[in-house]
Parts: sequence; structure tokens; C-alpha cells
Amino acid sequence: MAPSTYGLSRQWQRILQRVPSLLDYQTDADLVHHLAAGQTWLAHCGVSSELECIVPVVGGQHGIMSVLMALLQPGDLLLAEALTYTPILTMAARLDLQTGAVAMDDDGVVPEAFEAWCREANPKAFYLTPTLQAPTTVTLSKERRARIAEIAAKNGVILIEDDVFGPLKSNKPAPLAQIAPETTIYVASLSKAVAPGLRVGFLKAPTKLASALHQSVNLSVWMTPPLTLEVARRLIEDGTAGELTAQQQRIAKHRQNLVQSILGIEAVPNLSDGFHVWLPLPEGWRADVFSSECARLGVHVSEGRSFAMNASDAPEAIRLCVSHEANEERLKRGLEIAAGVLQQKPIGSSMKI
Ligand SMILES: Cc1ncc(COP(=O)(O)O)c(C=O)c1O
Repeated sequence: MAPSTYGLSRQWQRILQRVPSLLDYQTDADLVHHLAAGQTWLAHCGVSSELECIVPVVGGQHGIMSVLMALLQPGDLLLAEALTYTPILTMAARLDLQTGAVAMDDDGVVPEAFEAWCREANPKAFYLTPTLQAPTTVTLSKERRARIAEIAAKNGVILIEDDVFGPLKSNKPAPLAQIAPETTIYVASLSKAVAPGLRVGFLKAPTKLASALHQSVNLSVWMTPPLTLEVARRLIEDGTAGELTAQQQRIAKHRQNLVQSILGIEAVPNLSDGFHVWLPLPEGWRADVFSSECARLGVHVSEGRSFAMNASDAPEAIRLCVSHEANEERLKRGLEIAAGVLQQKPIGSSMKI
């Protein structure tokens, strides 16, 4: 669900009164205010930072692309979790990077698999989503985070920690950027907790890398629009962003409960935070067949395969997204349809004798 517009129109009215300066190229004075707001948002995400390590970006996606453009050269090896946010693969292809899949288990990415890549190849960076992993929703333990930070530092690998979903998770372990600030570039965004249309995010980089990231942003968009940064700044500083985050967490919890009550505790034994549900399918189901059957009945679900770095690793699982549908009755209907499909005998399955 798009986070509520509560508070936004009020902010626009006030900001319009000072449009002249915000419509110009950004002044250093405005930039400092915006960096300070970034610092507050990062603190809200559990990451402390000096102002000079913060780079405003046009959302998380732009942040990730800016990092790859700034720090990796054609031919460099970029690692990612075996199931990942797939735009990263498209970005890597556009930048002529090599990619490698780091194995996962039920608890998320496996540190020893990362270590093996470091032993056998020469990875430059590792992109990962340790909190509410995309797509499995697993949150990596404190211990695995510490191991990954240690392996990265030992082997000179840059960690690109995408934490756009982080604000939706309560009681999460410290981000990698907090554990290993000299090794990690942290990608924060207001999209999932405040408003995706704002297109505001913040990178937090080790001091030595910040200026390369500033240059990359400069090359792609000259500057993150001061107008939207100013809206974000006010929402962050007057507490509205925090309220919207809490509201999104409440809605997500409610929707997760709906999923569990409609699909059943057997299919969804554990509730996650956030707006996604990862559903390994019962034996006999193929994810492509399941998703086409849902699509035939008017419900869109994402196949596990669409997140796999290597098609051969694709699990027979699907991901449900419970945020797009604003109307709760329609969401319930969609979930009931998916539950109905789940109860069918897998279509095309052969009898076991
Ligand atoms: C894992 C992940 N990272 C990054 C993004 C991009 O976020 P933003 O809207 O801030 O660009 C998304 C968007 O869905 C996402 O799912």
C-alpha cells in the first residue's frame, strides 16, 4: 500500500512559500539542512553517521545504481544473495559486471558461501538485503551479520546493504553499516515507510568513498531535487515520517494477520513484518503452474524463479505482495482465491503409485 499522504499536502503548502530558492541549483546551506535530515533518518534506521558520509539520492534504486557506477569497473565481480532483488542483475548487465550467487538457507545468506567466493574469486562488492530479505523476508541474525562483516573486511569486499524495507521491521539486529562502517555502503529510502513518489533516499558511505558517490549522483541527476528533499526534511524533522512509518508497520501487521488467517497456519506458520509473504509451495506444486492458475483467476503472484540469480536454483515458492491492493475487501478476495488454488491438487501432477 502506498504510504498515506497524511502530512504531505500540509508540507507542500508551507514549502511553496519558499519556492524561489528551492527551484534554483541547490545552495550549500540547503544541502547541509538536507544532510542533517538524512542523518536523522539514518539514525531512525539504526545507523549513525557524520554529515560528510551522507549522499542524498532519488530513492533506493538510484542509490544502488549510483554505487555500482561509482565503485565497480566493467568485468568486476558483484555478488548477491542467490535469491535477490532482480533489478540488480539488470544493472550489473548494463555495467558489464560479472555476477555471482551467494548460497542461502532458511536463515538467509550463508557466510561460509560468501567466504568461499572470496577464496575462489575476487569479488569487488556484495549486494544484500539483510533485513526483510528480498524476496524471502528473512532477517539475518546478529551472528551472521558479524561474520559477513568480518569476511568482507578481511577480503576487501564492499558490502552494499540495501535496507529500503528496514524501517518496517521492529526489533531488528544492527545494520551492517553500523557493525562495519568502513566496509559498508548503506542504502536507505523513504519509499516503503513514507511515500515512494517522493523519490528520496540517502546513502551512507565510508568516509573514503563518499566523494565518489557524490560524483556519481552528480553525473546521473546533477543533484537530488531540493524540492522533494525539502519535503522529506520537514516530514523527518517534524516527526511525520516516524508516524507514517509506525502507521505502515501497523497496516503491514494487520495484512500479515489476514494472510495467515486466510491461507492457514500450515501454509504461513510465521508472520513476518513488512508487506511480503514468501510461500514455499506444498510438494507437487510447480511455482509457474501455481502462478498461472492464480493469474487465470485474476490474482497476480510472483514466482520464486523471478528472483533467482541462477534459474537452476529457483525454489518452488511464490511471493505475495499485500501492499499494492489498497482495497482490503479485494485483497481478501485475492487471498481467498490463492488459498483455493493452494488447496487444489497440483494441476498436471501425475499420480504417485
Ligand atoms: C529490495 C528493494 N530495493 C530497492 C528498491 C527501490 O526502492 P526505491 O523506491 O526507494 O527506489 C525496491 C523497490 O521495490 C526494493 O524492493
